[in-house]
Amino acid sequence: MIQTMCLPDLHTAEHLLLEAEVMNPGPWVPHSRNVALAARIIAQEHPDLDPERDYILGLLHDIGRRGRPNKDRHILDGYDILTALGFPDAAQIALTHSFPMQNPAELLAWDGSPSELERLTRLLEAVSYTAEDRLLQLCDKLALPEGCCILEKRVTAQRVKSGMITSPRKMLTSPCQTFNPCLWQVEM
Ligand SMILES: [Fe+2]
Repeated sequence: MIQTMCLPDLHTAEHLLLEAEVMNPGPWVPHSRNVALAARIIAQEHPDLDPERDYILGLLHDIGRRGRPNKDRHILDGYDILTALGFPDAAQIALTHSFPMQNPAELLAWDGSPSELERLTRLLEAVSYTAEDRLLQLCDKLALPEGCCILEKRVTAQRVKSGMITSPRKMLTSPCQTFNPCLWQVEM
């Protein structure tokens, strides 16, 4: 059953995520569930957002990770998967969730081809951001696999994962690294 022409219903979204977890299990799945929970909770307090719709968007925002372990390429893969399934609203969130500034320079680790990056750039330029795009961008930053956290912790975790900074645990054990007390609580 389809909730609208643009978005799957909750049962279908749950099925898509479970199917994806079988194909490529990993922490991205509990992260997606926590993004969905955060989106629903925040949307409940917003006059123009639909909590159940935003829960579904959260479940599916990283669905591009289903085929294989990938990095930023999952953004374009997710867009293509959800577009092919006939869910353009969910596809837009898959495309925009990593770009608060609507700029491809925000990519942390592009693992697609140059032509795919060009296509992503064109698609991103064509989007007019909505409150849903902004909500899912925020929730993607709030949600770790273990639960939600402050923005600083999530952003640090993303940068450690992409190799931009050293793991805070390594900082603690390596005499060559400068210890930043602001980072020590980050669980990796
Ligand atoms: Fe995500």
